[in-house]
Amino acid sequence: MNSYINEIDFFKGNKPEDLAAQYGTPLYVYNESVLRQQMRKVEGLIKKYPYTANYSIKSNSNLSILKIALEEGLNADAMSVNEMRILLLAGFPAERIFFVPNNVSSEELTFAHDNNIMTSLDSIDQLRRFGKLFPGSRCAVRINPGVGAGHHEKVVTAGKKTKFAIAEEDIDEVFEVAKEYNLTIAGINQHVGSLYMVPDPFLAAIKNFLRIARRFPDLEFVDFGGGFGTPYHKLSDEAPFDIDKLSAEMEPILDEFVKDYGKAPLFKSEPGRYCVAESSLILGRVHATKSNYGHKYAGTDIGMNVLARPTLYDSWHDIEIIRDNEVVTSDKGTEVVTVTGNICESGDLLAKDRELPVIKTDDLVAVLDAGAYGYSMSSSYNLRPKCAEVMITGDGNAKLIRRRETFEDLISLFC
Ligand SMILES: Cc1ncc(COP(=O)(O)O)c(C=O)c1O
Repeated sequence: MNSYINEIDFFKGNKPEDLAAQYGTPLYVYNESVLRQQMRKVEGLIKKYPYTANYSIKSNSNLSILKIALEEGLNADAMSVNEMRILLLAGFPAERIFFVPNNVSSEELTFAHDNNIMTSLDSIDQLRRFGKLFPGSRCAVRINPGVGAGHHEKVVTAGKKTKFAIAEEDIDEVFEVAKEYNLTIAGINQHVGSLYMVPDPFLAAIKNFLRIARRFPDLEFVDFGGGFGTPYHKLSDEAPFDIDKLSAEMEPILDEFVKDYGKAPLFKSEPGRYCVAESSLILGRVHATKSNYGHKYAGTDIGMNVLARPTLYDSWHDIEIIRDNEVVTSDKGTEVVTVTGNICESGDLLAKDRELPVIKTDDLVAVLDAGAYGYSMSSSYNLRPKCAEVMITGDGNAKLIRRRETFEDLISLFC
């Protein structure tokens, strides 16, 4: 693919320079149609049995995006009190929120309980804490099935080397603690890791998880987790994650389980990235170009404070160059360049030694697939304000969905 921006008409007639002039750069720009399309795909993953897709809001918790998720019929999972609060604010009823925390305080558990939000406990210790606080209530447990999957060791969330969940070998203790505090284990959940591009790891994970599920009597729900991948190399024609194939191949596995178990619990998934990643790009400005000892650099205002993934995980994001509102394609000539941000860290790199169309000072750069773990992991390091977010709506309007932070915002917490 030559240009994703042109291919899908990302800006829907809006001029990138107008967006940059009105809202400043760096700027997260979302495309509502892509967002809704992705959400609809996960919503239709399981058709034959009761199913909900829980949008994992850690990937992007912008209020406008949450309202769209609600409209699209998704449920949601939350990792903290504030994630629960913003879901309630967006209009999610308590029964459509699932609290999947890690190492939380009694206060956080109490918030969920007082708001009738189902909670999953991810250690025996936390289950015991929950039992002492709320004997006789319903909850879920997060199980670590012993095998993980993911694009980077920092996003593998199951297996023998992770802090998450309760090991399979400790399930008997789950039953003991549940009995001691008269808890009903209403559901079990897992999340084995993130960003697999083919269905096989997920299929293997659900087969394994359903084997474990058989040990639990009378489950109301079984939650398989998220992790469905995004084609971050789309300009090199990487194929998207084939969710239809996953859907078809899951069905016989679910059939067999339902037959053996004697009933179909509510099945759940927890996709984050798949819903939002492709719906957003970051527009940034090239403020300087230079050559350092033979290496060409393009210095932009998209630092690791704006997009942490390349620094954190060595993640790849495709980059397009925009000049005079037009995408500059590689047929006009390319060069190998390192694209950096403006943060005082040598690891502040967006792309290292990347072959790109020749970049000039004052060009705009568009960093693709930035909607997941983009803004939500951004920071105000170097006292740079967090940037604004704009949605290109279905009918082509550019709508501000979060304003840029100001200096006053940044200093407002000082006493
Ligand atoms: C428990 C849990 N569920 C769901 C997700 C969402 O993963 P993804 O965005 O890869 O779909 C995560 C991501 O870290 C997670 O930890």
